[in-house]
Amino acid sequence: MNITVVGSGYVGLVTGTCFAEMGNHVTCIDIDQDKIEKLKKGIIPIYEPGLEAMVAKNVENGSLHFSTNLEVGMKKSKVIFIAVGTPMGEDGSADLQYVLSVASEIGQKMHKPIIVVDKSTVPVGTADKVAEVISKELKQRDEDIEFHVVSNPEFLKEGAALQDFMKPDRIVIGADNDMAFETMRDLYAPFTVNHDRMIEMDVRSAEMTKYVANAMLATKISFMNEIANICELVDADVNQVRIGIGSDSRIGYSFIYPGSGYGGSCFPKDVKALKKIAEDQGYDAGLISSVEAVNDKQKLVIAEKIVKRFGDDLSGKVFALWGLAFKPGTDDMREAPAIYIAKELVKRGAKIKAYDPKAMHEAQTFYLKDTPNISYYDSKYETLGDANAMILLTEWKEFRSPDFEELKMKLVEPIIFDGRNQYSHLRLESKGFEYYQIGKRT
Ligand code: UGA
Repeated sequence: MNITVVGSGYVGLVTGTCFAEMGNHVTCIDIDQDKIEKLKKGIIPIYEPGLEAMVAKNVENGSLHFSTNLEVGMKKSKVIFIAVGTPMGEDGSADLQYVLSVASEIGQKMHKPIIVVDKSTVPVGTADKVAEVISKELKQRDEDIEFHVVSNPEFLKEGAALQDFMKPDRIVIGADNDMAFETMRDLYAPFTVNHDRMIEMDVRSAEMTKYVANAMLATKISFMNEIANICELVDADVNQVRIGIGSDSRIGYSFIYPGSGYGGSCFPKDVKALKKIAEDQGYDAGLISSVEAVNDKQKLVIAEKIVKRFGDDLSGKVFALWGLAFKPGTDDMREAPAIYIAKELVKRGAKIKAYDPKAMHEAQTFYLKDTPNISYYDSKYETLGDANAMILLTEWKEFRSPDFEELKMKLVEPIIFDGRNQYSHLRLESKGFEYYQIGKRT
């Protein structure tokens, strides 16, 4: 099938590349000329395991094209995906200006029947707005061309996006027309060969599904973080409590790991947007607000532990910071706890020596660019010299089993603050460390 994907960011690029990989002819569009030129050469703007190679392969075999001109793709395409950004507006709602401007361009340039698919995460009712905008443009041109707007939210995890796309848990399709369902079934057929993963529903339910999935996962995390804080107060160990409850299949083991809070571009934005969706209907979504409030507080728990240990004034203190990305497997630092913790410690006079396998460029160029007293190192061990303690904030595999003797030798004092509960208390204490983690008293 010939398809066009508008927006060559994270979601658009993964979507377009995976469809190309399955034998479709795909044109990915973006307004950023520089980005498109780089993509044509196989240079991708983000770090996502396996993506660069897959882009290069499909560009080379002619299945994947890049352009800044929507008309180029639209000429042949039966399906057009909208995968542009929906940044958070000032009031917490998703800003739809990019989605609606693509819709209007589609309306201006379409010459044959098409299916427009909303892939971006958008509030309930957006498909109707997209349809309205396209209809208006067609009316102005005095044209009557058939089109349908479908909602097909993405469920891609950063760091595992290709796998999630190729072997999805589910493919949610919201449509109001049989032909649209049929076309989407054809397009996704190669991804559902062994198991039927298609879940078909009405458009608004599909739009809502995306927010609810993310809000549910965020709720599990905030719930566990709150429990962790209570465990600490009553001298229980949240790590044991987690195993105790996860064994109940109704609860399950996943997404109940306590830590320094959730970050990234999705959970924080989608939880806020869902709260706003409810608010706009006059409904006070108290639980969802609490999920957000708990997370905001949780991001600073490790900083509070450091202050409790070293005092309010941290001048003269040096901390080795392991991990900057909001989670392993990505260079993404959006809403990463590391930003909040580094800023808090620096504000109190501390110096930070940081290392992350992938996110240092992001930190230096954007997220911690204006924060003084942070230096960056090429390996985890180089951060340790003169440091009063090591702080772990992203659970990269390479941090899981470090050489503790080297840590002990290089740190001023053998102290570890672990914001992701990667080590065992007993083990570290037996090695002579003072070990602080989330949800367990030291
Ligand atoms: C999330 C969802 O998992 C995807 O299904 C969804 O498609 C995506 O958002 C999106 O809306 O585009 P992602 O943001 O890549 O994916 O990250 P996750 O792997 O879900 O992790 C989110 C955050 O939760 C991380 O900061 C992680 O450290 C934290 N987390 C996760 C915990 O603190 N505890 C856990 O038990 C699990």
